[in-house]
Amino acid sequence: MKNKTSIQGSWASRWIFILAATGSAVGLGNIWKFPYITGENGGGAFVLVYLACILMVGIPIMMAEVFIGRRARKNPINALADVAEESESTKKWGVIGLMGMLSGVLIFSFYSVVGGWVLHYIKVMLTGEMIGVTSDAAGSAFGALLADPATLLGWHTLFSIMSIAVVAAGINKGIETATRIMMPALFVLLIILVGYAMTTGGFAQGWNFMFEFDFSKLTWNAALVALGHSFFTLSLGMGTIMAYGSYMTKDASIGKTVLAIGGLDTLVALVAGLAIFPIIFSNGMDPAAGPGLMFISLPVAFGQMAFGQLFGVLFFVLIGVAAWTSAISLLEPTVAFLVERLKIKRITAAVGLGIIVWGLGIACLGSFSFMSDVTFFGKNTFDFFDYITANIMLPLGGIFIALFAGWVVKDKFAQDELQLPSAVFKLWNISMKYTAPIAVAIVLYFLINPMQ
Ligand code: TRP
Repeated sequence: MKNKTSIQGSWASRWIFILAATGSAVGLGNIWKFPYITGENGGGAFVLVYLACILMVGIPIMMAEVFIGRRARKNPINALADVAEESESTKKWGVIGLMGMLSGVLIFSFYSVVGGWVLHYIKVMLTGEMIGVTSDAAGSAFGALLADPATLLGWHTLFSIMSIAVVAAGINKGIETATRIMMPALFVLLIILVGYAMTTGGFAQGWNFMFEFDFSKLTWNAALVALGHSFFTLSLGMGTIMAYGSYMTKDASIGKTVLAIGGLDTLVALVAGLAIFPIIFSNGMDPAAGPGLMFISLPVAFGQMAFGQLFGVLFFVLIGVAAWTSAISLLEPTVAFLVERLKIKRITAAVGLGIIVWGLGIACLGSFSFMSDVTFFGKNTFDFFDYITANIMLPLGGIFIALFAGWVVKDKFAQDELQLPSAVFKLWNISMKYTAPIAVAIVLYFLINPMQ
């Protein structure tokens, strides 16, 4: 399997791959979800478990995804099938890729709705509607937005079109160009915002909240959330990184590259927390406010602060950019699959898939209004899609990818791609065979049989 390239093209350099994968990894997960689940799960101890999951489970699985993609240079389904065949196993392993595509579709449909909220809040911040509002007023403004499907539909549609357009334009003209412009912008915005947070007076409190490890607050559920989130935030378990890896140049070191991506993603999550919690604390608000944390507390906080309007706009632009570069990566594996399997044009594949995810997104946005009665296991569509993907499908996909890389792929092929020093290879191999699958299995077990 030497010297192949994907028919979709390849990244211009190793750095472009790092930035594109980081663009996928850094998203709503880092800036919207991570702070609020940290808040809900008590802070420090949760952060520590999350860091352990990233290091012990996330990074090794990401290496597996990249090498499988790069070895086969095909979409995830065919990549898994080809790599299995090379190691004299069954092509049926491609099924993991199929489950991954389904996860991508489900994630995109609620992701795009939240992306729409973000676009709406850019507008709200620009017009200054939130200047001087109370928490109650901001809460009812957010509630009113959720209860207004027409407005949500407009923003969700815009966000979907933005994402589909980039994917339709292809690897180099689309994703790569977007990456080159948006990732530097994202880093600059983030630095400006932490700098701002440091001036608010709540910085020490925000820092302590995130880094004081109080294990009495840790529960199995929190561990599950931390593990699920480590998959979600690194874009693992559904083939995104595998697809991106299939466009990676052969000479780049997978280990170092993956460490850079995992490191950047973690850094952005921590820094985003350090930008958000001080603002929350300095305004006397509740860090455990849930999904509304960013959309209720922050606008109030910005509305009370010097230059709050300017920084508020910057903040929501930052999240919008992060969400956009992630959303495109949710579509890419399936688009690559459709192009390669059905031999259709990329634009046709992107638009076709786009219509499906956009339609499912309508069920998600309707969860707060006309479809609020429709529930699955007691959750509305929006929450259900989030829960089943982040907490079940991605971890399951991760277990199977790990087992596949550890037990099915012959060591010589894995090592041919990874080129790790032999001690590190052993560690990686143990993680694939045992540590990662067992960790995931334990947490899933306690999810299904909660301890009293
Ligand atoms: N990682 C992104 C975030 O943190 C979301 C995302 C993009 C994703 N592609 C993915 C999650 C693939 C799981 C799988 O917001």
